[in-house]
Amino acid sequence: MSQKYVIGNYKLNPATQQDALTLAQNLTPSACVVGIAPSILHLSAIKSVLADGIALGAQDITHKSADVGAFTGDVSATQVKDMGANFTLVGHSERRQYHGETDEILSQKIAHAFHAGLSVVFCIGETKDDYDQKRTQQVLSAQLELLAPFAKQIPLDTDQTLPKLIIAYEPVWAIGTGLTPTLAEIECVHNFISETLSTLQIFAPILYGGSVNDQNATSFAQSPLIDGALVGGASLKTDSFAAIITAFS
Ligand code: PGA
Repeated sequence: MSQKYVIGNYKLNPATQQDALTLAQNLTPSACVVGIAPSILHLSAIKSVLADGIALGAQDITHKSADVGAFTGDVSATQVKDMGANFTLVGHSERRQYHGETDEILSQKIAHAFHAGLSVVFCIGETKDDYDQKRTQQVLSAQLELLAPFAKQIPLDTDQTLPKLIIAYEPVWAIGTGLTPTLAEIECVHNFISETLSTLQIFAPILYGGSVNDQNATSFAQSPLIDGALVGGASLKTDSFAAIITAFS
């Protein structure tokens, strides 16, 4: 079986550092690669309690600068790396939607992440309207296009625990809704993503995200086309997240 990845995205949760530490302390290394992206504010405290081998990431980095500058409120890739993080999410639909992040902004973020030595979990996905209108492939190929200039920077294979680039396919309508596409639909989309990436000379694991839970993870994990999961809500429940990790291990 190829390497699988389970990454938790805590989003704006939990309210206290103590609760974040409790979640993180309960994680143990597993046969699949496990990672979490907590609030930036909790990054450093979590780093100090996280078991060796668990990847730590940011949910976002600024596009304005790779390291420092007069950008009030921003956090850079270099600062995140210095706090001990290994990766950052880029292009999550909540960033695209609530913060107006365009392809240009997202490419700057990827460039800064790579410059600082962070891996990138690049999130893509179609809206409900796109899905209903059968525009999923069209939307995804447009979203993937911005990766083309980075192809030469992404090694074909790596001995690092975390590849330089991971794709997370997250249908916007499946995030936090309890809805998911069928397994056959996800497999068809993952196949399309993989073909699109190979035309760009890019090879990256492809995770599924959107309402992954302890009930549906087992069927997703059995698919050779699903390299892992990006988990929101269920990563905030110790038992559910552990069950998802077990499913992919
Ligand atoms: P969800 O979120 O698992 O709560 O649907 C997934 C995500 O936004 O990454």
